[in-house]
Amino acid sequence: MDILRIEGGRPLHGSLRVPGSKNASLAILSSVVLAQDPVVLHNVPNVRDTRVMSDLLELFGARVEWNGDSISIDCSEIHPAKLDPEVARQIRTSFYLLGPLLARLGHAAIPAPGGCRIGARPVDFHLNGLGRLGAVIDLDMGEYVGRTDGLKGADLYLDFPSAGATQHLMATATMAEGVTVIHNGAIEPEVVVLAEFLNELGARIEGAGTGIITVTGVSRLHGGSFRIPSDRLQAGTYMLAGAITRGEVTVNGILPESQSALTSKLKESGAKVVEGNDWIRVSSDRRLDAINVKTMPYPGFPTDMQQPMAAVLTLADGVSVVEETIYESRIGHVPELNRMGAKIRLEGRSAVITGVEHLKGANLEASDLRAGAALSLAALAAEGESYIRNVHFIDRGYQDFESQLRSLGAVIERIPASESPILEHSEVRP
Ligand code: EPU
Repeated sequence: MDILRIEGGRPLHGSLRVPGSKNASLAILSSVVLAQDPVVLHNVPNVRDTRVMSDLLELFGARVEWNGDSISIDCSEIHPAKLDPEVARQIRTSFYLLGPLLARLGHAAIPAPGGCRIGARPVDFHLNGLGRLGAVIDLDMGEYVGRTDGLKGADLYLDFPSAGATQHLMATATMAEGVTVIHNGAIEPEVVVLAEFLNELGARIEGAGTGIITVTGVSRLHGGSFRIPSDRLQAGTYMLAGAITRGEVTVNGILPESQSALTSKLKESGAKVVEGNDWIRVSSDRRLDAINVKTMPYPGFPTDMQQPMAAVLTLADGVSVVEETIYESRIGHVPELNRMGAKIRLEGRSAVITGVEHLKGANLEASDLRAGAALSLAALAAEGESYIRNVHFIDRGYQDFESQLRSLGAVIERIPASESPILEHSEVRP
């Protein structure tokens, strides 16, 4: 597997533009099978997860054509398929195909989902909701097998505002007969984007972006074209790169209001944040102050930025507490940051971080996507060289990661698997 080599200790300066949102794209790609005519999506990030998802669509008979950052998808002739569980498990959103396929075909089977290992990540809200919409679903040999004689609108309530369950049920309900109301739905920007996309195809969804979403079923969805907005999580990562390296990074082409939790916390820690209509500049010329961070559903502090933010706080002045409330084990970054000289202690779901003045380069292993981002940020700020293994996790959600960082002055290179040096994981490099 490829390795990233990063020479740290250089302040990053410059501006960049991030590609389209991975999570919005995945939600859209899993619901595109509802459309009976061709759909064209623009600004789709070319990352591993979107490529896996487009391969899965082809297995169901979709005709998919990539053209730069646009994809044309024709689902007019979709059919049932047996998915390889290993392939389906690579991404969680493979499971979100179940409801839309049931709506189109009346029956479908999807292996139990996977995704980054950051907690148990059950699918009970999805299954309960699909059941209430009139699907009968059985788990057979690790595969969810569903059928329906016709989906019917229903009143749904989510015990927690799950982004995935809201997206999956909202998409499925577009073709259920009658009215579906989703109470306590997620209000993440990616839910709103999915609703806009589906409405573009003729769906009737109201209230996306509030806790109560009403979907009035229609008999068919037609084709259309749609532009995916930029990725707030890639944007946030580069903003944090400006802060941790004591540089100045401007991220263009984004929606500043979707970053408000992150920018508020950065300001609280003493970083300088300037915002325009569609850009944010983050800079710092001093050691940041320790702060407390607690992850919450949107518009709270995003769990996806928890690990990168923890990396930034390893170098802050004082003791920070970072509490993860969404996933029970999004902590793979902790032992690795400690290998770099960070002082992080886990207490239940909180990381208690005693800031240090310097981190040292080390041989590191990414345990998941955002842990990989966190380690990269730490490595950019650390003294000396770091090597990060399991880059394939970073490739799930960051497009052109090294070249984006290089454009800001980072010294970072990808060493292909065939040329990778044999590295002792625990060895701390000088
Ligand atoms: N949950 C349940 N039952 C369910 C569904 C969710 O208990 O049926 C729980 C989860 O276990 C978790 C909480 O609800 O504790 C929130 O999970 P949610 O369903 O919101 O997460 P998700 O839809 O699986 C998406 C993103 C994640 C992101 C979360 C939170 C995608 C493909 N994934 O996951 O992104 O962390 O929302 O915003 O959209 C990432 O990009 O690195 C990533 C993991």
